[in-house]
Amino acid sequence: MKFSHRYPLRKWRVLGTHLFLATLGVIAVVITMHPWAGQADDGDTSRLDRTLVNVLRAGRFTGEVEATLEARLGRRIDPRLADLGRLLFFDTAVGLYGDNACAGCHSPARGFGDTQSIAIGVQNNGIVGPNRVGARNQRRSPLVINTAFYPKLMWNGRFFAPSGDPFDNSQGFTFPQPEGTTQFPPNDPTVEYLLVAQAHIPSTELVEMAGFTGTAGTIGPRFDQFDDGDGTPVPPPAASGFRNEPIRQAVLERFNAMPEYRKLFGKLFPEVRAGAPIDFSMFGRAVAEFEFTLVRANAPIDRYARGERNAMTESQKRGALVFFGKGNCVACHAVAGKSNEMFSNFEMHNIGVPQIAPAVGVGLGNVIFDGPVRTRTLDWSRSLAIRLIATNSADHRCATWRCNRRSSTTAHLRGWKMRSATT
Ligand code: HEC
Ligand code: HEC
Repeated sequence: MKFSHRYPLRKWRVLGTHLFLATLGVIAVVITMHPWAGQADDGDTSRLDRTLVNVLRAGRFTGEVEATLEARLGRRIDPRLADLGRLLFFDTAVGLYGDNACAGCHSPARGFGDTQSIAIGVQNNGIVGPNRVGARNQRRSPLVINTAFYPKLMWNGRFFAPSGDPFDNSQGFTFPQPEGTTQFPPNDPTVEYLLVAQAHIPSTELVEMAGFTGTAGTIGPRFDQFDDGDGTPVPPPAASGFRNEPIRQAVLERFNAMPEYRKLFGKLFPEVRAGAPIDFSMFGRAVAEFEFTLVRANAPIDRYARGERNAMTESQKRGALVFFGKGNCVACHAVAGKSNEMFSNFEMHNIGVPQIAPAVGVGLGNVIFDGPVRTRTLDWSRSLAIRLIATNSADHRCATWRCNRRSSTTAHLRGWKMRSATT
């Protein structure tokens, strides 16, 4: 009795369950037939995802590097210090000649890089970007974003942390002369990070920021034409034979003479509030703090590695497999360990691209600096390079030294045409 009574009921339940499953099935089929359907049900895609996830995992690429910044600093970013650094980054007072700021070459509109294939420094026309005209440097301005994570700075890696870690000053920071190994010694509490040390350099560069006023007759005849008498005179070299430290002191004199800056520095440095002069490490700490706010590593490949499977298209995923797999780009454009997921092993390589730059002086043509270059970090193209079809971006192509070759003639014609020579 009990049985006969229960059977029909169970049949209905079974049928009901099947109908329910069948309906789900129909809905699923309809969903996957729609163009907006996710790719998760596609066998090839899930195989591609499985392979790529394993390849990224094996290569120790996590996509998390941006989030590690404050742990690496050992503290939170100080927004007030960063804001002071922002003011300094955009202030032409940092250059004795008075017409160029960090942002003149590292422009926010260009990822804190440049549209010019070779940087234009002092005696510029006051414009940033494609219409900038003025004295050429000999190299392109790289991007400042993410440089917080670079253990070696500059095209040839000549500013570096011997510890291999830009956040670790236990072995000091090494620069070429005159700073050498002594200016930023181990465990200096005022120069904790490589970027603090780097910020000591740009204002000392004559062609970048300091200008040539007062140098006629002191460097060499080829340079005399650049002394146009404008701006603050560049002080003579110190006993070491170098001007870097005298120039830094001259820049500090300016800042110490400005009540507004003394007040701003005083808010952050109690010694300044108590009357002590602003020193260059304070300048460097503020600028570096601003640069720490310019850390961005959220390209599709980063998001994908963090688990967002639809952050990349299928062709991008296949490109990534080539990049991390049989293309072995990752051998140089490294992500693991001390490369901090920056797509560079920070080693020097000669990949057969000569650097061609204007020679110093009007009408002298170009010079070739051949030599190994630091592996580019692919920041222009954190995602583009992964697609392996990076050639559709003019800026991207221009980011290598190869670009100098293409544009060196125009660079030469337009560059080094100093204001004194044209007016
Ligand atoms: C005249 C243009 C110019 C100005 C002004 C300038 N830079 Fe640069 N910057 C460059 C160039 C060019 C390089 C690469 C030079 C080299 O490798 O020899 C560079 C390199 C750098 C790097 C290293 C990037 C890397 O990929 O290794 C950082 C960081 C940087 N500059 C920050 C600054 C700061 C901070 C200031 C202001 C205090 C500044 N720059 C002023 C042109 C400029
Ligand atoms: C032997 C080391 C090495 C290998 C392997 C390598 N690269 Fe590079 N790559 C470099 C160096 C060094 C540069 C910088 C060249 C220069 O500035 O002149 C560079 C530059 C680049 C740039 C230009 C980046 C920019 O900012 O303009 C791209 C893109 C690039 N590589 C992609 C790749 C891809 C894709 C592969 C694999 C197919 C690859 N690289 C393999 C060393 C390497």
